Amino acid sequence: MLAFDGALHIGAFQYLGVPLMTIGVAVIGAGMAGRAHAAAYRAATSLYESNLPPVRLVSIGDVNSTFGKAAADRFGYERTDSDWRVIADDPNIHAVSVVVANHLHREIVEGLLAAGKHVLCEKPLSDTLDDARAMVAAADKASSIARIGLTFLRNPAIAAVQKIVSSGQLGKVLHFSGKYWADYSSDPMSPISWRYKGHMGTGALADVGSHISYIAEFITGNAFTEVSGARFVTSITERPIPSGAVQGHSGATVSDKFDTVENDDYAGFTASFGDVAGSIEVSRVASGHPTSLSFEVYGSKGAARFTQARNGEFELVLNEDPYGQRGFRTVQIGPSHPYIAGGLPVDAPGVNVGQNDQFFFQNRAFLAEVAGLAETPSLPFCPDFADGLHNMEVIESVIQSGLANGANVAVPAASPSYLRKNA
Ligand SMILES: NC(=O)c1ccc[n+]([C@@H]2O[C@H](COP(=O)([O-])OP(=O)(O)OC[C@H]3O[C@@H](n4cnc5c(N)ncnc54)[C@H](O)[C@@H]3O)[C@@H](O)[C@H]2O)c1
Repeated sequence: MLAFDGALHIGAFQYLGVPLMTIGVAVIGAGMAGRAHAAAYRAATSLYESNLPPVRLVSIGDVNSTFGKAAADRFGYERTDSDWRVIADDPNIHAVSVVVANHLHREIVEGLLAAGKHVLCEKPLSDTLDDARAMVAAADKASSIARIGLTFLRNPAIAAVQKIVSSGQLGKVLHFSGKYWADYSSDPMSPISWRYKGHMGTGALADVGSHISYIAEFITGNAFTEVSGARFVTSITERPIPSGAVQGHSGATVSDKFDTVENDDYAGFTASFGDVAGSIEVSRVASGHPTSLSFEVYGSKGAARFTQARNGEFELVLNEDPYGQRGFRTVQIGPSHPYIAGGLPVDAPGVNVGQNDQFFFQNRAFLAEVAGLAETPSLPFCPDFADGLHNMEVIESVIQSGLANGANVAVPAASPSYLRKNA
C-alpha cells in the first residue's frame, strides 16, 4: 500500500521510489479569496496535462463554522475546521493556502511551516514589515515550500504584454502608468472590517496597490528604485459597525453605531524603475470600477495597454505602422498567448478569461512545485516570500514618502523572481 513517508519537502511525494498518489490540501479562510483558492484546487488537476497527482480536498478552515461549512460543501471539501491548528496537525494535509486578514498571516504561516506544510500565502505577506521579515526567516528555515499569491502575474493578457515588452518589440521602455481602481468602499454604509484598520498605507495601497506594484515591475522589467510624491486620502472617515460577521467587502447588515476608518481609500505616487518613469494610483472608492487593474506602458517603438474590465484582450500600437494609420489595435487572447494553449479545456482563440482563472493557474503552479514536477515556461512556479517582502518594502517606501510630504524615498534593492524568470 502506498503511504506518505512523513517528510514534507519538494520531491517527497513518493514512497520507496513510487510516487504518492495524493496531495491533501486545505484552505484557511473561507472568505472571498478563500473561496477562489478552494475552487482553484478543485480545478487544478483539470488544467494542463495530467501529470499532477490527484488532489484530495480535505479541509476548509474558518473561525466561523457557518462560513467554513458553506465553502466546504460548495467546493467538495471533506470537512471544515474552526481552528487552523487542526489543519497543521493533520498528516493527510500537505499543502495549505492561507487566505485570512493580513495581520493574521504570520502566526498561521509560521505554525504551518513548523508543522512541515507547504504554504501558499495571500498578498500582502503581512501588515507589518517586521512580521514579513519574520515570515521570510521562517520560510528559509522550513523544509517545505513557502509561496505568495501574486495572482495578477497569472493573467494571460498581462503575461502576453510582458512578453512583448521583454522581447524588445516596443523598444526601450520609457514610461509606465498604472492604476487599480475598485469601488468596494464607495458606499458609506458598507460595514467596517479588518480592511479599514491600520496606519495609512494598509488600506487601498496594501490591498490593491500591492497588485499593481508587482505588475509595474513585471511589465517594465525593472524593480522599483525610488518613489516620491505619495499622497493618501481617507474619503469616508467612519463606517457602520456590522451586526453580524463580515466576509468580502459588504453583504452584512449594519448597526446604527459607527467606527473610524484608519487607513487610505486613495493613494497615489510617482516612481522610478531605474531610468523608467512611472506613476501609480489606487482607489477603493472609484464608483463604476468594481475591480479594475489597468496600465499603459510606453516604449521607444510603441506602446501597450490593458484593463481588467476587458480581461480577454490587450491593446498594442507599433510606431513602425505607416504614419496616418498608427493607433492602438485590439489583440484578443488565444492559444498563442501564455497560459491558454493546453492549459484551458477550451484553448481556442477568443475564449476569454477572468480573475478566477488566475487563481486556477496559480494554485496549479503551486501544486506542481509541491509535487516535485519540473517548472515549465508555460507555468512558472509561484513567487517566494522574499518577493512578498520586497512588495511590502515598496509599500513601506510609499508610506515613508507620504509621511515626509511626498519626499523621494529609495526602495531597497531587490531582484524579484518574476523579473529573473522573465528577463
Ligand atoms: N489575490 C487576490 O486577488 C486577492 C483578492 C482578495 C483578497 N485577497 C487577500 O486574501 C486575504 C483574505 O481576504 P478576503 O477578501 O478573502 O477576506 P474575507 O474577510 O472575505 O475573509 C476572511 C475569512 O477569514 C475568516 N477568519 C478570520 N479569522 C480567522 C482565523 N483565525 N482562522 C481561520 N479563518 C479566519 C473569516 O471568518 C472570513 O471568512 C487577504 O490577505 C487579502 O489581501 C487576495
